[in-house]
Amino acid sequence: MLSRPALPLSLFALATQVLAQLPLPNPPWQPPTASNGAVVSAAQTSTPNPQWSTMLGDLLYFYEAQRSGRLPSTKRPAWRNDSAVSDGQDVNLDLTGGYYDAGDYIKCTYPLSFTIMSICWGANDFGRGYDMANQTAYLDDMLRWGLDWMIKAHPESNTLYVQVANANLDNAYWGGDENIPYPRPSYPINATKRVNFIPGTDAAASAAAAFAACSNLYAGRSFGSAYTAPASLQNSSYATTLLTHAQQLYAFATNSSIKQQTYQTAVPEAGTAYASSSYGDDLTIAALHLAQATNSTDMYQQGVNFYRQFSLTGSNQVFNWDSKTPGVYVLLSQLAQANSLFASNQSGWQAEAERYFDNIVNRQSKTSNGLLWYDGDSNDASLNPALNAAMLLRRYAPLASSQSRQTSYLNLAQQQMDYALGNNPMHAPYVVGVNPNSPSNPHSAMASGGSDINNIDTVPAQEAYVLYGAVIGGPSRRDLFHDMRSDWVESEVALDYNAPMLTLAAARVMSDAADPFYTRLQAGAYASVKPSSAPCDNAVSTGCRRPGLSTGARIAIGIVVGLVGLLILCMATYCLRRGRRR
Ligand SMILES: *[C@@H]1O[C@H](CO)[C@@H](O)[C@H](O)[C@H]1NC(C)=O
Ligand SMILES: *[C@@H]1O[C@H](CO)[C@@H](O)[C@H](O)[C@H]1NC(C)=O
Ligand SMILES: *[C@@H]1O[C@H](CO)[C@@H](O)[C@H](O)[C@H]1NC(C)=O
Ligand SMILES: *[C@@H]1O[C@H](CO)[C@@H](O)[C@H](O)[C@H]1NC(C)=O
Ligand SMILES: *[C@@H]1O[C@H](CO)[C@@H](O)[C@H](O)[C@H]1NC(C)=O
Ligand SMILES: *[C@@H]1O[C@H](CO)[C@@H](O)[C@H](O)[C@H]1NC(C)=O
Ligand SMILES: *[C@@H]1O[C@H](CO)[C@@H](O)[C@H](O)[C@H]1NC(C)=O
Repeated sequence: MLSRPALPLSLFALATQVLAQLPLPNPPWQPPTASNGAVVSAAQTSTPNPQWSTMLGDLLYFYEAQRSGRLPSTKRPAWRNDSAVSDGQDVNLDLTGGYYDAGDYIKCTYPLSFTIMSICWGANDFGRGYDMANQTAYLDDMLRWGLDWMIKAHPESNTLYVQVANANLDNAYWGGDENIPYPRPSYPINATKRVNFIPGTDAAASAAAAFAACSNLYAGRSFGSAYTAPASLQNSSYATTLLTHAQQLYAFATNSSIKQQTYQTAVPEAGTAYASSSYGDDLTIAALHLAQATNSTDMYQQGVNFYRQFSLTGSNQVFNWDSKTPGVYVLLSQLAQANSLFASNQSGWQAEAERYFDNIVNRQSKTSNGLLWYDGDSNDASLNPALNAAMLLRRYAPLASSQSRQTSYLNLAQQQMDYALGNNPMHAPYVVGVNPNSPSNPHSAMASGGSDINNIDTVPAQEAYVLYGAVIGGPSRRDLFHDMRSDWVESEVALDYNAPMLTLAAARVMSDAADPFYTRLQAGAYASVKPSSAPCDNAVSTGCRRPGLSTGARIAIGIVVGLVGLLILCMATYCLRRGRRR
């Protein structure tokens, strides 16, 4: 038994009541084998299409495979074991549970918060898709496994655990879930971390945003008639618990008596994997989800004030765990049309959202086969920026100010999703286990079955377990996919990679009677085009020539460097002489 530190009574009571949930199907729903995804559905005339329902189930199942801690008797991936059951012991807390972040075994609160916010918000908008696919109980189960851990990671109003396990130590381990190495230190942000600063404005605000967005989902506080929450998920007592944590964390993040800073400034160890670049977007989106949760014009005004203070207008950035501004445009537009209290600047917010989306539709680069490409952001895990753009386009489309905009937003969202689901030159749907051409070597220590870090690709020859429903990083700038376990750039899995696909799939369950693209891909389609070249990216560069310069170019550069050197030498000599003359 772990000894418990003294908790404020009210929080202790909250932390112990969060167990019950929707009953899970019995027998449980299990992902069908990949060959099922190469079978064209017979009718394709009504919703829900069974292939889309399966897709949604698979995407949720991935999160179950990522679970940390003691697994319940209802666990579905038979190959997963209890793991990391001493997390938090170093600080006399129970920090077991939650989710492993990606292909490794660290638990990271900041990107987890983004993932959970994204899924709750998406379920609030397209929740009927979960109901239609009979997946709402698994959605509930998935969310609570994350939220209940976040509640444990927030044991006092001004303390939030932002990471468990050290990324540098953990990256040295490649193996199964039975021998995950300790120590796994627990890293908090709290009042003593930096006496004069809030020790992690972004992490506290981002967790507040997740709790508030999920409170809205569980309370059924929807964004109006354009959207539908899942009918069966509502639970007002859980919604209240989540709102309490959201409000405390928001108060922590905005405590006016002290200054603000990024969380890795206080906890450098957390910056190794997920260094945050700013906190203005986190504060804004937290205030706005809280405005929706509390019907508070004051909270709405705080959100708008942050928006101005941090100059969020005019951004063309991607939407991801570190960059929430594009989501702010959409949320402001949704609030304005759903709630008369927040409606005063509806046309202003919609103009901002449409400026952002029109730029994507008309000007954002794409690979030659049509995947949205953001230089820098797309270089590792290229599907993530594209699918997040598609997800926001899909969500905003019902609010578009013209029919032609609505059509172009929906079309681009669908085209990006179809690319990810196999309409690409590799004939590969980039979700594990949904079709015979799906990736077979996701970068995941637990699924690989290997323990030899130096021979990740070859030991074992075949990945031990099928990580059903995992969205992988994505193809290269040249639309190539190499399906190599060591190539984390293209093949890693992560909690946040699945989130936009989940929302998009829920929307497709509701609206699309036709099969996902991949049912037309038969076994062997990927094998026939699989590149024989090396990926030549940030993960794998063996067998690659460095970006080639011709001999002529190298000689020319040599001459220029030589001349510049000579010039510097001359100037230095001249300055030295002048110096001496004084
Ligand atoms: C709602 O959630 C709370 C907290 O997890 C739980 O105790 C309660 O049983 C749930 N109610 C229903 C009707 O599911
Ligand atoms: C959902 O459950 C109902 C009732 O058991 C069943 O009739 C229906 O076929 C199921 N739908 C899907 C998509 O599994
Ligand atoms: C879980 O334990 C079993 C039995 O020891 C083992 O075969 C399996 O590989 C373990 N799973 C993982 C993910 O390591
Ligand atoms: C803050 O966390 C550190 C551990 O990093 C701990 O030593 C310290 O006591 C904590 N302060 C408070 C006020 O909880
Ligand atoms: C704000 O921070 C100060 C200094 O750490 C602390 O004493 C106070 O309780 C905090 N206020 C809130 C609302 O958390
Ligand atoms: C929020 O305020 C609006 C406008 O006053 C009102 O119509 C709505 O019922 C309120 N919602 C809640 C949950 O109190
Ligand atoms: C209205 O929205 C625009 C964005 O188009 C923003 O720049 C402006 O500050 C907003 N005005 C108010 C009063 O909130």
